[in-house]
Amino acid sequence: MERSAFPAPIRLSARSRLTISVVGVGLWASGGLWLIFHFYLRSPGPWGPEPHALEPWWLRLHGLFAFASLWLIGLLSGLHIARAWASRRRRWSGSLLLAWLLALTVTGYLLLYAGDDGAWGLLSPGHWIAGLALPVIYVAHRLISRRR
Ligand code: HEM
Ligand code: HEM
Repeated sequence: MERSAFPAPIRLSARSRLTISVVGVGLWASGGLWLIFHFYLRSPGPWGPEPHALEPWWLRLHGLFAFASLWLIGLLSGLHIARAWASRRRRWSGSLLLAWLLALTVTGYLLLYAGDDGAWGLLSPGHWIAGLALPVIYVAHRLISRRR
């Protein structure tokens, strides 16, 4: 394999790690807030409980962070994943994390465009249960011990 005289490090800079944290926390928190407002904070209306006024705003915020996450995955593909893969370390946890993000992206896309002909009942909990679990996989990838 061709090797550069100055190979870029696999380790991410503090700034890249901060960007991952901001986008990750934003994605998770906006999704979590939507869940809390959707399931626990309905407003009373003349014909029964109605969605809280803030509920659609959490989804709009979530969409914003979802766009940012796609940009970040693209950035990491070049900055981290390609080189990390070649080093043969943390392949399992890294691949699982990437696959999880792709599954969230696909189910997120389908939530937007698949329509509501029954699929929503499976897609929605599938997406948010996987979303709630995302930090566990991220933390596992970060903490897993290096194999010598
Ligand atoms: C197949 C995919 C991936 C592989 C093979 C992989 C591999 C690795 C390796 C080998 C390290 C240790 C770097 C070192 O300490 O020298 C690492 C750290 C890390 N990875 Fe991944 N990774 C993958 C995907 C991802 C993804 C998708 C993310 C983020 C969304 C990510 C975020 C991180 C972070 C934040 C660290 C800690 C960096 C540091 O301490 O400097 N990785 N990864
Ligand atoms: C790569 C990561 C992710 C992407 C690309 C993504 C994308 C999306 C998209 C496009 C929607 C549909 C928005 C709409 O209907 O207006 C959505 C909905 C949602 N997402 Fe995510 N999301 C991601 C991660 C997460 C995470 C980490 C959580 C954590 C809780 C989460 C929770 C939710 C919830 C609760 C909804 C609303 C479900 C519904 O409308 O039935 N998502 N997401």
